[in-house]
Amino acid sequence: MSDFDYGTTQMTNWIELGEASEISPGDRKSYSIKGTEIAVFHVVDDLQLGKFYAVDDSCPHQGASLIAGEGSGTEVSCPLHDWSFDVATGECFDFPEFPLTRYELKVESGVLLLDASTIEEPDIPQNPFLVRYGSMGWVDQFSAEENAVYAHRERVILKTSRGEEVGEILSSVSMQENPVPSAGTILREFTPTDQQTLSRQEDVTAPVFQDCQKLIQERGMPSEIIDCEQLFDQQTVVLYYLGSRMPALEILAQELNANYPWRIIFHPVDETPAASGCSSGGCGCG
Ligand code: FES
Repeated sequence: MSDFDYGTTQMTNWIELGEASEISPGDRKSYSIKGTEIAVFHVVDDLQLGKFYAVDDSCPHQGASLIAGEGSGTEVSCPLHDWSFDVATGECFDFPEFPLTRYELKVESGVLLLDASTIEEPDIPQNPFLVRYGSMGWVDQFSAEENAVYAHRERVILKTSRGEEVGEILSSVSMQENPVPSAGTILREFTPTDQQTLSRQEDVTAPVFQDCQKLIQERGMPSEIIDCEQLFDQQTVVLYYLGSRMPALEILAQELNANYPWRIIFHPVDETPAASGCSSGGCGCG
């Protein structure tokens, strides 16, 4: 069901979640819509009137589900590290710069309807290949042009959420019962000219790595920088860290970006760019 909302001049896409009575007053339920987990809370106010709210069921800190979170009224605390949120507004009380994404919800004839117009379809890879990339050696699926063929261990230039980087083909992916989202696109094969470009690339990682380590120590931040990588595009420098995602890293990334001519981003060592989107709160990407 789709309609046009003349009040907001935005297309809406109302989809049925199920009977509203499936969620008791004070309870909550998770739904999977186009690959996105959404938590619906049935909140009872002081006048004992029930209202439903829908937010992303993924904490902006490190992605924990909020379904098991504690709290009363419209407030819920993340079960992992206790950040608390208002599910009516999406506000994060601890770090206002990391709100929850909210979705419009309504009840018609006892049926819960959610506006899914802002939920993006996952990018399913076309002509997919498994590719190893990044200095952490991640393996993800990438789209290639139709009929493109690459050999095992062939080097390629990739377009990822971080920039342009070099990857190594492992295999094509022919049969998939449950397609996974694409981590990016294979732009082309790696050429001798690319090798010359890499050889000429000035290594800028050492000063960035040292500066960052020094600032983290001075500030007593509970993070440890374990590696630094300059991407093939010569515009992006990635700092890999151990520790929790936090706003302080976002601030540090902004400071480093003001001091260097490259885009400097933080990336947790235990999440592939495809899983984190490299744009989640606290990693400094965006
Ligand atoms: S994952 Fe939610 S507060 Fe850490």
